[in-house]
Amino acid sequence: MNRLLVCLLLCSISLVIGDQHLHANGPFGKRHWTIEMPSPYACNRPAGLLSTAVDQITLNVTAIVYSSNQLINVTWPTTSTSCTDDFIGIYFADTPLSAACDYFDYEFVQKQQSVMSWQMINLRQPLQFRYYSRQNNCSANYSLIGQSTVLQPLNYNEPTHLHLAYSDRVDQMFVSYLTNSSQYIPQCQYGLDPSSLTSHQSGTSTTYKASDMCEERANITGPQNFIHPGYMHTIVLEDLRPSTTYYYRVGTAEHGWSSVYAFMNRPADENEAVNLIAYGDMGLSPVEPGAKSTIDRVTAKVQLSNVTCLIHIGDISYARGIGALWDAFMTQIQPIAARVPYMVSIGNHEYDHVTGGEKDPSGAPGPGGFRPIWGNYGRDSGGECGVPMVRRFHSPSNGNGLFWYSFDVGPIHILMFSAEHDFQQSSLQYNWIEHDLQSVNRTHTPWIIVGSHRPMFTSEMDQPDLAVSAQLQLHLEPLFYKYHVDVNLFAHLHAYERSCPMYQQKCINDGITHVLIGMAGQALDSRPYSPTEWSQYHDQQFGYTTIFANKTYLHLTYYHNSDDNVADQFFLQK
Ligand SMILES: [Fe+2]
Repeated sequence: MNRLLVCLLLCSISLVIGDQHLHANGPFGKRHWTIEMPSPYACNRPAGLLSTAVDQITLNVTAIVYSSNQLINVTWPTTSTSCTDDFIGIYFADTPLSAACDYFDYEFVQKQQSVMSWQMINLRQPLQFRYYSRQNNCSANYSLIGQSTVLQPLNYNEPTHLHLAYSDRVDQMFVSYLTNSSQYIPQCQYGLDPSSLTSHQSGTSTTYKASDMCEERANITGPQNFIHPGYMHTIVLEDLRPSTTYYYRVGTAEHGWSSVYAFMNRPADENEAVNLIAYGDMGLSPVEPGAKSTIDRVTAKVQLSNVTCLIHIGDISYARGIGALWDAFMTQIQPIAARVPYMVSIGNHEYDHVTGGEKDPSGAPGPGGFRPIWGNYGRDSGGECGVPMVRRFHSPSNGNGLFWYSFDVGPIHILMFSAEHDFQQSSLQYNWIEHDLQSVNRTHTPWIIVGSHRPMFTSEMDQPDLAVSAQLQLHLEPLFYKYHVDVNLFAHLHAYERSCPMYQQKCINDGITHVLIGMAGQALDSRPYSPTEWSQYHDQQFGYTTIFANKTYLHLTYYHNSDDNVADQFFLQK
């Protein structure tokens, strides 16, 4: 009985915690909160979904064909009788005019307003803007009072969502992108000179259906739920030289090519230095101002300096079952991910679910995966259970797909694991972690960095993951210490914190440095801190970290987005 009560309590706590994140940022650049008032009438109420078509005005648009990220202005003559919850929404053009609430994104019309700006994403379908107004002096259902012409993407098969990832060998690179076509052999042309892409490789394609995902809302079809995600194409480039810059483009002659991008392959020689960028918990730019500032700062960094690869340790897009948000997120990271390998690990907002476990691509047993009585694992993925993640991103294949894997980059061995999966002693994942750590050649890679989503340590008071943190300390801290892990990265809490080299809360010379890096964009924490011996620096600001390492020296730097100045840094030496 007591056990049942504890379980019910933990379940309700986890639902409340999950709900704290449930704001509905729009994929076309509009910011909303689920608790905002007014919200479009009837779109979240039980009655009045039908609207009457009463065309009165024309919405003019500054372009009728668009490409990803293009800004389009919608203009209209001001109306004298606008209600506080009149809105302009963006729709698939074939959505019935009566379906006022089936928008992708919306913005309320302010009194005397006559222009509105929209950041476009290519959803591979014709789109339309519509203006809905409340009838009967703002007391009744919506009427359509204006619509735009139909807008088309410049190219339905525009190569979008370009991103890179490491594969199993140093001479390989995954190149991925997305189009609207399944009748398609994806191509990558590449070479050492941007004007002479003489090498060529073709790849494979995949997609996913609503029914591939575990539960609601991800498996419900509709503009604010599942939409056809297009086709994800992936090419593996082979026989690449280490530390060499390659130029490439993807697409086909028939359907069109992407722009030419460049990447530098990772070094094969451990004597060469590397530069990494690392963060977690980003979410959607530009509606999350922190995500936008991180994207802007990191994009500038990868364009101006030699960044070897990027690590994003969970809570990636916060799409949570809203397919169009994946389109928006993958579009936002392309300026970074088309230039440096974007290595991800799984977070609660990509994976956590409570039913439908037979569809879980990680193969975890049970309807909701790992749900120990001490956990606060909720349904934070909106039913996705990792499916959109594993179809879009890639990793080496030496573990369990994206869920746990490792790779070498210069003098660093990086191990990514999942705190959403069983990590207790003797679990499948624990055994893999131990085997992987045992196998590291410390002459070749003197540094070991481990990364996962949930925090093993924080001095934030009353943080909701205390029990998970305690279990991570119980099961994995001794393992990491035994195998002399140097740095442990985690996120989930939206803040930055860095420990001394430590073991079991005591600063010691050969300890592990723990770094919380969940400050990449999602709403920041504001909890107070408890005094601890081990916490060397903490703050709650938006930012990102860089990691420089050569064989004898590792330097982690934390930058604030606000001024791009160094907020914290530390050095380790071998
Ligand atoms: Fe999280």
